[in-house]
Amino acid sequence: MADTNKNERHVYDANLDSHSDLQRFFEGDNLVVATRFFRNAALFEQLRSMVIPNLLNSGLQGRGTLHIWSAGCSDGRESYSLAMAARNSLDDLGYQGVAVRVRGSDLSRLQIEMARKGVYRISTSDWSTLDPYRQNFEELGATIWQIASNIKGLVEFVVEDIIEAQMDAKFDILICSLVLLYYQPQYQREIIQQLVKAVRPEGFFHVAPVGRRWLKSQGFEPLPGSSLFFTGRTMEILA
Ligand SMILES: C[S@@+](CC[C@H](N)C(=O)[O-])C[C@H]1O[C@@H](n2cnc3c(N)ncnc32)[C@H](O)[C@@H]1O
Repeated sequence: MADTNKNERHVYDANLDSHSDLQRFFEGDNLVVATRFFRNAALFEQLRSMVIPNLLNSGLQGRGTLHIWSAGCSDGRESYSLAMAARNSLDDLGYQGVAVRVRGSDLSRLQIEMARKGVYRISTSDWSTLDPYRQNFEELGATIWQIASNIKGLVEFVVEDIIEAQMDAKFDILICSLVLLYYQPQYQREIIQQLVKAVRPEGFFHVAPVGRRWLKSQGFEPLPGSSLFFTGRTMEILA
């Protein structure tokens, strides 16, 4: 997206004229980087019950590695949740031999530093969601937990502006959740067109919040039965 005039990249309620303004905006505001483990329960449910089985049907085992990109990952909780869910799901289905690699990227250096540490405060109420994955955490203090090395080793983090990322079509799954809402609609669409080039033809993506009708108008197909995942494939191939 080299030709894009960066002055057109205004996020709502902020007057940003340059790339460093944009970076400062996301580094300086706790609200815009807010995240949680397994934030969208339906997304993780559909990942397990539809996306991974579909990828296995289209030859994932032969490829040997499930590649996931968590774009705009904030402090890493989304990326680690994806790694835990994918590993757990493949193991449950008997595919221990298929590796999982998650790439977490964010514009904010501070968030990526936290992500690389993988140390989080986890409250008692958070454990209701996290309990099935307790073995993936090591206790450091009263409410302080570290991501266990078996999961940490599956995830790499990079400081990167999704707008400038030029990725090969190598990802089986792309998640870009609650990132684009800060950008003007016409700019969101331009970013999505760029982002989905990183998804393999057999792969699936979730970008939110973006209208299903618009995605369909661009030729993307919803994964049958899924309210959240899309693909570039046609329904006939998926059937
Ligand atoms: C509300 S958080 C969402 C975090 C996570 N995806 C989730 O759903 O929990 C939004 C994140 O998007 C990041 N972000 C915004 N614009 C970005 C861009 N152009 N490139 C990379 N990250 C961006 C912000 O730094 C912030 O960490």
